[in-house]
Amino acid sequence: MQHVDHAHTIIELDRVCFSYTNEEVIKDVSLEIHKGDYVGIVGPNGGGKSTLLKLMLGILKPNDGTVRLFGSDIKDFKDWSKIGYVPQKTYIEINFPVIVEELVAMGRYGKQGLFHFPTKEDKEKTLTALKQVDMLGYKDRQINDLSGGQQQRVFIARALATEPEIIFLDEPTVGVDIKTQKQFYALLRKLNKELALTLVLVTHELDVVAHEATELGYINRTMEYYGNPEEFLKGAYFHELIGRGGLHH
Ligand SMILES: Nc1ncnc2c1ncn2[C@@H]1O[C@H](COP(=O)(O)OP(=O)(O)OP(=O)(O)O)[C@@H](O)[C@H]1O
Ligand SMILES: [Mg+2]
Repeated sequence: MQHVDHAHTIIELDRVCFSYTNEEVIKDVSLEIHKGDYVGIVGPNGGGKSTLLKLMLGILKPNDGTVRLFGSDIKDFKDWSKIGYVPQKTYIEINFPVIVEELVAMGRYGKQGLFHFPTKEDKEKTLTALKQVDMLGYKDRQINDLSGGQQQRVFIARALATEPEIIFLDEPTVGVDIKTQKQFYALLRKLNKELALTLVLVTHELDVVAHEATELGYINRTMEYYGNPEEFLKGAYFHELIGRGGLHH
């Protein structure tokens, strides 16, 4: 039996299977994410990337297999402030007027937001999170008045506001220009290195993420590869994938 150091294992999936209907979308996925890892998840459209994140976040429940977070079964896990999530296409869903600082503060008290009187600590942590993503100067602006890249940073600040140990991001760079994309990856690099924040990033940018991430997962219903990104790029499997168009989106 494999030895698992639970002190450093943040997420553990053991033979996880999931289906929305009668078709299996996630098949027998096992993996471990350790503190400080920067995990890039790639794969074709419909390959199960977003579903995998939702299983790790407890938004969906596996049909089979187990998910463990910080050493405890996800069913018993309570400390959700340790986990941040930036969902796919968040910014499009914002069609109500909200000030940047308020939006980030909502990361701290969630849905009770409107009835919650922010403490001094809430305020401090909110401003720290905005500073970490270089958006402090925009704290009094309306979220709708910011560019797509700036909005993304604000959503990352919202995820950072509870001082999580791990953040999940689902295709955060869709629809941004190359310059914004570069700044974005530089920000993630900084958060991973300086705050030792564990990152799980779903993206289509295999070429970029393979050079940024410490682990790479290629999922197409099953986890066809999970490990060193450089090995993936060098490996026969990657060339075979290109050959059969498995990376074309
Ligand atoms: N709520 C749902 N109900 C039924 N089927 C779903 C639902 N959400 C996703 N699916 C299906 O599950 C499969 C995996 O979807 P998922 O969203 O996880 O893929 P993805 O890898 O994130 O794709 P993309 O790159 O397009 O975001 C797809 O076939 C999709 O149609
Ligand atoms: Mg998706």
